[in-house]
Amino acid sequence: MSSAIENQLHELEQNALNQISALADLAAWEETRRSLLGKKGSLTGLLRGMGGLSPEERPRVGALVNQTRERLEAALEERRESLKRSEQNAALASEAIDVTLPAPPLPRGRRHPLMQTWDDMVRIFSNLGYSVAEGPEVETSYYNFDALNIGPDHPARAERDTLFIDDDRLLRTETSAVQIRVMENTEPPIKIIAPGRVYRRDAVDSTHSPIFHQVEGLLVAEGVSFGDLKGTLTTFLQQLFEGVSKTGNLQTRFRPHNFPFTEPSAEFDVLFNGKWLELGGCGMVHPKVLENVGYNSEKYTGFAFGFGIERMTMIKYGIDDIRLFYENDLRFLAQF
Ligand code: DAH
Repeated sequence: MSSAIENQLHELEQNALNQISALADLAAWEETRRSLLGKKGSLTGLLRGMGGLSPEERPRVGALVNQTRERLEAALEERRESLKRSEQNAALASEAIDVTLPAPPLPRGRRHPLMQTWDDMVRIFSNLGYSVAEGPEVETSYYNFDALNIGPDHPARAERDTLFIDDDRLLRTETSAVQIRVMENTEPPIKIIAPGRVYRRDAVDSTHSPIFHQVEGLLVAEGVSFGDLKGTLTTFLQQLFEGVSKTGNLQTRFRPHNFPFTEPSAEFDVLFNGKWLELGGCGMVHPKVLENVGYNSEKYTGFAFGFGIERMTMIKYGIDDIRLFYENDLRFLAQF
């Protein structure tokens, strides 16, 4: 009788050990532990069979059963450890990062459309032999007005919506002031452009902003003519609008106008996609302006021009609202 139980016990242990070593994961491990050692497990079932043993045999068989249980528990524990390790390894492998892979590309930034136009202008004028000059944005009345032949009683002085800081200092209303600063410090010949920020007390709408940008140009030498001015501006505009104008060769137009610092003065337009569009002002530097900086106006003549960078950019790209430049909406900016 006892040897029959011993055989069963032996067989059960062999099967159990095979089963344990074949376990695939911790869920199955739990299942198996219960089916072997649980209350309704096979070892417990076998113990119940001990009821038929003689009292002498019971302690021996009971000890055998306990030893078997201990060996199965040890085997289960060992298996559990190794299953846990391989599940951890699998999790680590699935989270592994290949640090040698190239990084995902970063989105490339780009120049603001106004700065692109600024750069284009500087490039084109550099090729024509101009250098870039700068002046302060906080100016004095002298440089912004008087030296430019806009005396205290000149109507243009009152017309400008100037932002004053105090009686004498103001935010420059135009880049023309840079002309004076350059001429004061340099003898002709002079060939400069002055791109920069200007300020006016204007209410914001689709074509006005209290802060905007201009480019000023100045050439002073001996024997400069209005023809030089027209040729220079036409060449510049053709290059700036190259590839954008649908009508091919860009046409320019000069209309008589009045500016205090030039004589004669003109406004210049381009024929752009069938329409004449006003771009800026220009003219021959007024003899008084040349004399204000100590030049001999009999010897030297010059031309000057000025226009808005916003306006040029709006025309070039067909933008109909100046505010788009300052709102920093990437959906707009990324188009250029
Ligand atoms: N300063 C003028 C403006 O802001 C533009 C201008 C016109 C500049 C004629 C010039 C010029 O140099 O000759 O409207």
